[in-house]
Amino acid sequence: MKIVAINASPRTGWNTSTLVQEAAKGAQAQGAEVQLFDLYKLDKFTGCISCFACKLSPNEGKCVCKDGLAPVLEAIRNADALIIGTPNYLGDVSAGFRALYERLIFQSLTYKKSPQSYNDRKIPVLLIMTSNADEAFYLPIGYKKMLKGYQQTLDTFVGNTKLMIVGNTKQVKDYSRFGWTMFDTQAKDERHEKVFPRERKKAFETGEKMVREPW
Ligand SMILES: Cc1cc2nc3c(=O)[nH]c(=O)nc-3n(C[C@H](O)[C@H](O)[C@H](O)COP(=O)(O)O)c2cc1C
Repeated sequence: MKIVAINASPRTGWNTSTLVQEAAKGAQAQGAEVQLFDLYKLDKFTGCISCFACKLSPNEGKCVCKDGLAPVLEAIRNADALIIGTPNYLGDVSAGFRALYERLIFQSLTYKKSPQSYNDRKIPVLLIMTSNADEAFYLPIGYKKMLKGYQQTLDTFVGNTKLMIVGNTKQVKDYSRFGWTMFDTQAKDERHEKVFPRERKKAFETGEKMVREPW
């Protein structure tokens, strides 16, 4: 099984990339081959440029834009599963995630009554989001609705998508350098030490399940 794992946070080694890597390790432990991408380390890329080449023969269903995202889209095309993690930026996904999402989804949209998608090879998708907001707030503040929108579209055009939300993350190493009075920084540090390792484990186990069980 070939798995593409994508960190759509500009930071590597932080919350999102750690969880993406854990899920990837879990998949590897079950024999999967993993190709990992850090979106913000790629060559320059943009979102969809509205060229519509993906709607015309011979490139139907395939984004032809040749930039930093081209190898990622190609790898997803050949993958058996996709793991992708993004930080919550201003109540949404990161800009890097969004650029990839536009290109990934729009290439498959036929604009025909039927079929809706050029992609008839569906793959399991794990979508991880990390945020300051605790998971418990996702419903009342609308983040759940936002994330469900991404999930439904991914379901339709890429494959069955499961969500993993990891909230209340530690955002910086040393909160005392900043005057961020809205955070209980001691609680943040404690959570990072006690709860985050459990989230890492959950990500690892989810990666294992992706390979081992029906998704
Ligand atoms: C530009 C920016 C916008 C953010 N907006 C939100 C937000 O709207 N809601 C939230 O809960 N967290 C927000 N955060 C916090 C991040 O989502 C959170 O710290 C995340 O875990 C960072 O992921 P990383 O450690 O992988 O970079 C924001 C952070 C940044 C840098």
